[in-house]
Amino acid sequence: MGKTTRKVAIIGTGLVGSSAAYSIINQGICEELLMIDINKERAIGEALDLSHCIDFTTSRTKVRPASYSDLEDVDVAIITAGPPPKPGQTRLDTLGIGAKIMEDIIPQIMESGFNGIFLIASNPVDIITYHVWKLSGLPRNKVIGTGTSLDSSRLKTFLSEILDVDPRSINGYMMGEHGDSQFAVWSHTYVGGKPLLEILEERKEELGEIDLDQIVKKVRKVGFEILKRKGTTYYGIGNALAFITKSIFNDDHKIIALSCVLDGEYGERDICTGVPAVITREGIKEIVELRLTEEEKAKFRQSNAILRKYMESIGY
Ligand code: 2OP
Repeated sequence: MGKTTRKVAIIGTGLVGSSAAYSIINQGICEELLMIDINKERAIGEALDLSHCIDFTTSRTKVRPASYSDLEDVDVAIITAGPPPKPGQTRLDTLGIGAKIMEDIIPQIMESGFNGIFLIASNPVDIITYHVWKLSGLPRNKVIGTGTSLDSSRLKTFLSEILDVDPRSINGYMMGEHGDSQFAVWSHTYVGGKPLLEILEERKEELGEIDLDQIVKKVRKVGFEILKRKGTTYYGIGNALAFITKSIFNDDHKIIALSCVLDGEYGERDICTGVPAVITREGIKEIVELRLTEEEKAKFRQSNAILRKYMESIGY
């Protein structure tokens, strides 16, 4: 019989990593979960605490602390290591230290014989994902960043409050940098199959004038609203990580806005940036190329130019 155990490793067991772990075991997404952290005691503590959840869940997950040499047959390695931005910093400001952490851990992971999928949440996620792709030597379909998945979810949450519909009935994406230059693809935002722009026009009297730019600003800034109040964000990104991991194991072919290495799509290459992509057991199967308006194209180019400027600072 071939390998049947679904195995996930979480590298960085701080608040993001442990929230992802909690979400993963509560949804029975894998059979084995390895917890790895530079602070070994922390990883042991989290693994112990999480293992006490199992009796109250619907399927068994074996949770244990581990080290990089245990990663050989891991299917999905989730990377959350790195510092959250401090008040007043942007995600881009954490690049230097984040890049160094990857230079330390990725070679160690590859040395184990790891041949699974990297799923990265460490910020600035687009550039860190690109860095991991380069450091690992894995094909581009197997190195994925959480990108604008969380931002797209935040966008849908805000729209759901305005329109009073379930966010899951809204289809739309934030694209570009998971940061201040991301933009909403309004031309392809649908609510129950109906274009959002049409709905806003039809319900103008009832809803009043909706300022779309203001919504984008809110999506860009809301992570910092959380940071300001509780120091860091973890439940949203934790569930995004679990959701993506589940889509990988289920071979869902789900379309999610993720940070992907582009190779000609949208006329871009040698960059990782947020785009809708089809996710399968093999990682990214296809990047969905939306027909953007001229204005959206310009915003995408601008966002990617900012990413490239920061990529240069770490030698790309
Ligand atoms: C977030 O957007 C800070 O990237 C983190 O929640």
